[in-house]
Amino acid sequence: MSARIIDGKALSAKVREQVGERARALAAKGIKPGLAVVLVGEDPASQVYVRNKAAACEAAGMTSRVIRMAADTPEGELLDVVESLNADPAIHGILVQLPLPGHIDTGLVIETIDARKDVDGFHISNAGLLMTGRPLFLPCTPYGVMKMLDSEGVALRGAEAVIVGASNIVGKPMAMLLLAAGATVTLCNSKTRDLGAQTRRADVLVVATGKPGIVTGEMIKPGAVVIDVGISRLADGSLAGDVEFESARRVASAITPVPGGVGPMTIAMLLVNTLEAAERGA
Ligand code: GUN
Repeated sequence: MSARIIDGKALSAKVREQVGERARALAAKGIKPGLAVVLVGEDPASQVYVRNKAAACEAAGMTSRVIRMAADTPEGELLDVVESLNADPAIHGILVQLPLPGHIDTGLVIETIDARKDVDGFHISNAGLLMTGRPLFLPCTPYGVMKMLDSEGVALRGAEAVIVGASNIVGKPMAMLLLAAGATVTLCNSKTRDLGAQTRRADVLVVATGKPGIVTGEMIKPGAVVIDVGISRLADGSLAGDVEFESARRVASAITPVPGGVGPMTIAMLLVNTLEAAERGA
């Protein structure tokens, strides 16, 4: 068997086009959705992400404002910037790019963002709303994964879903969304004993660890749908996912590539969240 490749680039283009249409409808009412992206420091990967987010925003007919701050910016100065964005009526979504430099309390910064503008869905109140089944913003990456599963027609009710990686950004919200869709969810972490025994039970396997190749073909149940969230740059400069693609595609029924899988969906769903924030304000 050779797995169907789930084309995140094509699906994200479709989502972005729909966002563009809704943004135009809003513009006709005099409201242009605005996203502020705050970048502290010069992390090269973060710089690329921020540039891509801003460009996608503009392409969808929304405004982007990128605020770059030095790596040694005092925490108080960053909090002041967040508060001024909270109060700015032209800004509907605020995203502070992570990771932040070590001297800054990341939790405090996220909690300072107005939850109604928290398009990352990282604010504690948005995490709580998701957990209790009344979400306001879904974190972009898990939201994008759900969109991919939906577009592939993957049946989730009663399915065995296994997630590898339990971060606040991906693994934990992913578990909540799959649970809400009726899957039986197993959330694995770095201490999980015999990871393969868990992953081999999965009808739907989501891998989000940042460890290239942690899941190989022999750890996958024949016919499973495999979603690879990881993206790492290897020593030779190439990009690799958390799933060993060549062995996995021989076992899975469908699999996301890296790059061109989950990554483009994350940006598309950020646009959706920003648009919805603007629509709610309108
Ligand atoms: N760093 C890596 N992924 C993300 C994300 O989704 N949002 C933010 N703000 N920072 C990140």
